Amino acid sequence: MSQKYKGKLAVLFEQQGGLPDYSLLAKRLDIPVVILVTKATQEEFFLSWRDGRLKLLDKELLKKGGLSVDIEPRPGEQRSWPAPKKGALAQALGRRTKTIVDATTGWGQDSLHIFRMGYELRCIERSPIMFELLADGFKRLADVDWVIDLDIQVPELISGNAIEVLAKLEKKPECIYIDPMFPPKRKKSALAKKPMTILRDLLGDDEDREQLFEVAMRTATKRVVVKSPDYAKPIAGKPNESFSGKLLRYDVYLNGK
Ligand SMILES: C[S@@+](CC[C@H](N)C(=O)[O-])C[C@H]1O[C@@H](n2cnc3c(N)ncnc32)[C@H](O)[C@@H]1O
Repeated sequence: MSQKYKGKLAVLFEQQGGLPDYSLLAKRLDIPVVILVTKATQEEFFLSWRDGRLKLLDKELLKKGGLSVDIEPRPGEQRSWPAPKKGALAQALGRRTKTIVDATTGWGQDSLHIFRMGYELRCIERSPIMFELLADGFKRLADVDWVIDLDIQVPELISGNAIEVLAKLEKKPECIYIDPMFPPKRKKSALAKKPMTILRDLLGDDEDREQLFEVAMRTATKRVVVKSPDYAKPIAGKPNESFSGKLLRYDVYLNGK
């Protein structure tokens, strides 16, 4: 069994689909399958199919339904395709930019927003757990009526560490988008568990974000956009431009190639 997830994560068999699907998922992640969660169960996190989608559950969320990659547009986002390139994220990416790589896809929320604005997008994720959740979400996206009707390609999803993947990319993107996990402002929070908090519990902070930024700067032909919490210092000194959103900032570094 993978040392990384040992005692932390299991697949929970809840009979939505056949046992082989659960077993294959467990095999890919090298984790056990459990059929019942009790107080004695060692694992804290579980993957299971519910409501036709793969979900990440923790013991507290077991009854509530869990977290999955949400492919629906955010509230207030225009539902036509492509949606207008407006707001701080579009400003940071550059409205004339065409090709983007999201190097830290996570729950895919920024990626899906970028995709809906009509950018040509590739997505990288190194956590095998998040990769499985994303693959499930992108598969559901490919089956959505408007995606089929308009014959739109869903973003390519690449599994691996972006530090290595970017260095080997043949088709360089104009823009690379990075949203690494920063340490939280306060260590303990009384807030209910949010997707990002759960992700941090499971994966930890992305300590190698500066190295990722350096590779991104060598790879992107035009710009690197770094999303940071508003309290964090810019990753590489003063950015060329900065756009603020709610409690966050998009720092833009132009590479002058
Ligand atoms: C804060 S989350 C990103 C959230 C995402 N922007 C969203 O909208 O859902 C950071 C994610 O990036 C991934 N990540 C961090 N460094 C990475 C790297 N070097 N290569 C690939 N993925 C990375 C982590 O595994 C985690 O899933």
